[in-house]
Amino acid sequence: MDTLQRPLKDLRLSVIDKCNFRCPYCMPKEVFGKDYPFLPHARLMSFDEMQKLARAFVALGVEKIRITGGEPLVRKNLEQLIESLARLKTPSGRDVSVSMTTNGVLLAARAQGLKDAGLERVTVSLDGLDDRVFRQMNDAGIGVKGVLDGIEAACKAGLAPVKVNTVVQKGLNDSQILPIADYFRHSGVTVRFIEYMDVGGAANWSSTSVLHSEQVRALINRRHALLPVPPQHASDTARYFRYADGGGEVGFISSVSQPFCGDCTRARISADGQLYTCLFASRSLDLRPMLGEHVAPEVLMARIANAWQRRDDQYSELRGEQYRNHGRKQYPTVRMSLVGG
Ligand code: GTP
Ligand code: 5AD
Ligand code: SF4
Ligand code: SF4
Repeated sequence: MDTLQRPLKDLRLSVIDKCNFRCPYCMPKEVFGKDYPFLPHARLMSFDEMQKLARAFVALGVEKIRITGGEPLVRKNLEQLIESLARLKTPSGRDVSVSMTTNGVLLAARAQGLKDAGLERVTVSLDGLDDRVFRQMNDAGIGVKGVLDGIEAACKAGLAPVKVNTVVQKGLNDSQILPIADYFRHSGVTVRFIEYMDVGGAANWSSTSVLHSEQVRALINRRHALLPVPPQHASDTARYFRYADGGGEVGFISSVSQPFCGDCTRARISADGQLYTCLFASRSLDLRPMLGEHVAPEVLMARIANAWQRRDDQYSELRGEQYRNHGRKQYPTVRMSLVGG
């Protein structure tokens, strides 16, 4: 069982499903109101349980652990978990890379502490530079300044390369593409523009709100010439281009127009210990009963390996074929805030 036929390289570990934002593409307010039943504290895995899980995944080949939420910085004492995850070694003795995706609101004050705890790098969601658009995109009355400060603090702390994720929703924030691209040119921060996906939670999704990466790239290219960067890993979510004038790189995540399921090496764990083998899964495997001390690590590993060998997920590719006819989400899938970005 030490080698899996299909590689499992990335673990996305959600530490909490709550968030201090309500982005329209992830937690639209019509669905995620004040009374939304997020996981109660008692259902969240403890850090010890998460560590046992992470150990098993690393033994099975995982080299990168990305901490997600909801908003991961809302989870108390997260630095403690990071410290223990960052000490994990792959079977060949290499350090495991620990990264995080965050909305950045709580980042300015914590960036250095996170780095000290062993966090390698950070990705920050940012969907507008104009304060009015930014506030509309988080629906929590939060201004853009704090997030920009968070990004700057992450750069200063060396959480590099710092990336920015911008989900583009046609008619809502497409006016922000050029301002965001311009703001981060020559800064060392790489922006990735993401096609609005029909993830669970995105209740208002329709194909007419998706701006294809090709159009976003053409828009930027008209202002600043872009040159393709050869792909580094088959499983990368983004395709990168560099500014011809040396202004840095910009990426495009095109899971709607150019799905990349074939090379997917990403497993997801929700904060209550469910394994999802796809971002669009509608079923999960409950690993929580196997996280106590009475269960041998090998038993947990065998369970995960078995689920991974059997997986045949390719939602984005199937949706790609079907949505040309329907233009709506195909069937209910796990909400994004439970399994992270
Ligand atoms: P790096 O290691 O920095 O390249 O990270 P990443 O690009 O793998 O991770 P990140 O969490 O920043 O993912 C970026 C975005 O890509 C996510 O927020 C999702 O919108 C999208 N995404 C990530 N993984 C998947 C996936 O497996 N399937 C699909 N369809 N989209 C994904
Ligand atoms: N479409 C694309 N990306 C999404 N994310 C959340 N919801 C969606 C969606 N509907 C991703 C964004 C964000 C991360 C936390 O999750 O990249 O940065
Ligand atoms: Fe919160 Fe991230 Fe979802 Fe936005 S995308 S609502 S910041 S979890
Ligand atoms: Fe992987 Fe599922 Fe995303 Fe396809 S849709 S890339 S299988 S997570």
